[in-house]
Order: sequence, then C-alpha cells, then structure tokens
Amino acid sequence: MADSYRLNKLIWPTTAKCDEKSGELSIGGIKISELISEFGTPAFILDETDFRARAQTFRSSMRKLFGSQADVYYASKAFTSVATCKWLAADDLNLDVCTGGELAVALAANFPPSRIEVHGNNKSIEEIEEAISVGVRYIVADSLIELDRINSIANRLGKKQSVLLRLTPGVSAHTHESIATAHEDVKFGFSISSGAAMLAAATAINAQNITLEGVHCHIGSQIFDDSGFILAIERLVRFISDVKKNHDVELHHLDFGGGFGIAYVDSDDPMDIELVLEKIHSALVAQCEKYEVTMPSVAIEPGRAIVGPAMVTLYKVGTVKDVVLEDGKTRTYISVDGGMSDNIRPSLYGAEYSALLANRTSSAPTAPSRLVGKHCETGDIIIRDIALPSDIVPGDVLAIPATGAYGRSMASNYNHILRPPVIAVRDGSAKTIIRREKISDLLALEER
Ligand code: LLP
Repeated sequence: MADSYRLNKLIWPTTAKCDEKSGELSIGGIKISELISEFGTPAFILDETDFRARAQTFRSSMRKLFGSQADVYYASKAFTSVATCKWLAADDLNLDVCTGGELAVALAANFPPSRIEVHGNNKSIEEIEEAISVGVRYIVADSLIELDRINSIANRLGKKQSVLLRLTPGVSAHTHESIATAHEDVKFGFSISSGAAMLAAATAINAQNITLEGVHCHIGSQIFDDSGFILAIERLVRFISDVKKNHDVELHHLDFGGGFGIAYVDSDDPMDIELVLEKIHSALVAQCEKYEVTMPSVAIEPGRAIVGPAMVTLYKVGTVKDVVLEDGKTRTYISVDGGMSDNIRPSLYGAEYSALLANRTSSAPTAPSRLVGKHCETGDIIIRDIALPSDIVPGDVLAIPATGAYGRSMASNYNHILRPPVIAVRDGSAKTIIRREKISDLLALEER
C-alpha cells in the first residue's frame, strides 16, 4: 500500500485524493476524518462535482453527435434522491423512472414531468394513472395488456399519452445473466423476431388515446463491448422501416437504453463512452440510409456510468481475525460495520470491488484478506480476495470506491441493520442528502 496515494482515476471520484504523507483520503476537498466525525460510518460519500460532470459529459457528447434533440435520461434505479434529481433538473438532464416510488422522488424534487419517462414490465394501474396525470414525456410500454391499460386510463383522464415500445432485439449482451435483458427468453419487452413487436405497434397505432412515438431497447448493464449496441441499433431501424411499410407511420424516436460498464477493480477496462457513442451514431446513420428511414431523435438512459464512480462507501473496521485454511495458509477476515445490506452486488452477481485503507498510511506487508460485513451469513462478503496491509486494526477506515450504482438503491434492512446515509461533498463542504436510518424508522412500521 506504499503508493496508495496514487488512486486509479477510472475507479475513484475525480476529487478523491489520498495525502501522500498521512495516507488520509479526502473527497470533495474534505478529509474523511472530518466526514466520519460528523456523519459516522458506514456512509456513502457522493462527489457532487463528479456526478454532475459525468451527466454533463453524456449530455454534451449526445448533443454533439446526435443533434440538439438528443436526450439523456438518467436511470433513477442506479441511485435516486431529491437532491440528485434537483441537480439533474438544473443541468438539463432527463429522468428515467421505473416505479411510482422513483416517480414520487422526482416529483418531490419538482423535476419537470415533461422530461420524465416511465419504465417497468408491470406498472400498476395507479402508477400509470399518476404518470399520465402529471404529464410524463413517455411511457415505455412492455406488454399488450399494458398498452390497453394506458389507452383506457388516458381515455378516462381525457388525455393522449406518448408511448415508446420496449423491444427485445434478440441481442446477447456479454454481462452477468441477471443483468442481460435483450436476448429472447426474458420478461422484458416485445420480441421483434417473433412478431410480437409488430403486433404491439399495430395495437398502439390503432389506440385512440396513445401516440406511438418510437422504439426503445435496453440490452443489459455493465457492458464492456459495443457490438451488442450496434446489433440492436440495426434491428431497431429495420423494425422502424417495417412499421413504415406496414402502417405508413414513421416512428421518429429511438432510445437505446443504458448499460455502459464502469471499472470496479484495476483490471477492468471500460469502453470509452464518446467512442462508443460515435460508433453507434455511424451505425445509426448507415442503417437509416440502408432502410430509407428518416434519422430519428435519439435518447439514452445511463445510470451506472454517471453515479457509479461518483460514490465511495466508508466503513469502519470492527474485528480482525486470522483463519487457518485447509492448505495451512492463513486468511485475514476483516469485518466492517456494513455489508450485504448496503452492497448486495458481490453476493448477487459476484461483483468485484477494491478497497483502500483510508485513514492512514501503512508500510506493513500485505496479507491475503477477505473483507466481510456484519450480517449473520457466510455469503456476506464485500471483497472475496484482496491483499490488505497486515496491520489493519479495529477503528481503521476502509474506503470502497465505485459503490454509487445499485449500492444504496438496492440496500435492505436485513438483520434490521440501518441503511447508511448519503453525504454529498463539494468544494470543501458536506451535506446529508439521505439521512442515516434510525431504529425508530424500523419500529415505525410495527403495528403495536
Ligand atoms: N434503462 C433501463 C430500461 C434499464 O433497465 C436500466 C437498468 C438502465 C436504463 C440503466 O442501466 P445502467 O446504465 O445503470 O447499466 N442491479 C444491477 C443492475 C440492474 C440494471 C437494471 N436496469 C447491478 O447492480 O449491476
């Protein structure tokens, strides 16, 4: 760990720095010792400058390539809060929500409904009603039953709702099975190859209270290879052309979802986003020419690539234990004050993370270690194999970078553990944007 002050820029927030002398980490111009004394651990620290810059980079690259109609819908599911929705609103981003809960957070932030799109494969009647009433830009329809519901609710409310069709282009994204979404055997969308998508288009075109504006696909998440995007674009444009032939309606909007992979560990080599967008743009132009389709307006929905690297989790070490393995070697188990309730990704997807001793330097040799949480479960592992300084003791602080996406948003109260706060840091100041849960929050749900 001698050179831990050299942080891998791909993994850490842009303002994260490790002091060469003291070894202490700071983010947003604030030392973690100050953050911890004010907010405690575990805590998610969100670098506001980094989050907003990443969102802005997507927006400006999209507009540069695809024109002023191009939009970036930040995917709330990766992480949402009233504060981040306010930043996104101020910075001219759009928002993707997939439940009534995510919509409620957006509305609580006064996010303009005309810049919100609504996803989900099983939206409830109430969710559809709320979305149409407040006037969301698009509802992305996922089934024929849903098209029927949207049409009748819009009719009842005296409105006409803009709709996109979620299509399944039959593309295998090379990622974990649970987060690949566009091969044929999935719960999402209308399959192009089976004819379900064309039937949905006909249904939507004929529905009195629906305006069918375009098509959508999302091929998966944490993608490191652009070929799936290119193939999906080809199939979507061919579909737009088929709809034009069959119905004399030209769909003018194409949304190709999110999924851009990020680095979690040094060996990860994510795609350069601008480069991928350039390739997608060229593919789209070529396909539109080939199928004689007018270039549609284009949107994307990145979540992970905006919030993932912008957040760091701070844990305090509680216990350290050496365990002798079958082969006689020793593994050091380092237990921290959080775990699978604030980061389920390692248990669920075998996701890998890195860690930094963040409160001091150490010149001790490293030891094969396993970073574990405080839950009553063997699988409560944050990092399965990591070399950490052998002098780590209770009270030390470990920082885990790149926990912004699907960390706090998938957090649970397993073992009645309280979910950590999210603290936004910027230019030397820190503020709570989601407070730490209290025991009284848990007890408030109990009927007594
Ligand atoms: N659009 C749609 C329709 C989606 O379903 C998703 C993610 C996104 C956009 C954003 O994808 P991103 O840019 O964040 O990759 N819990 C998993 C990830 C599930 C992704 C679900 N859909 C994980 O922790 O890896």
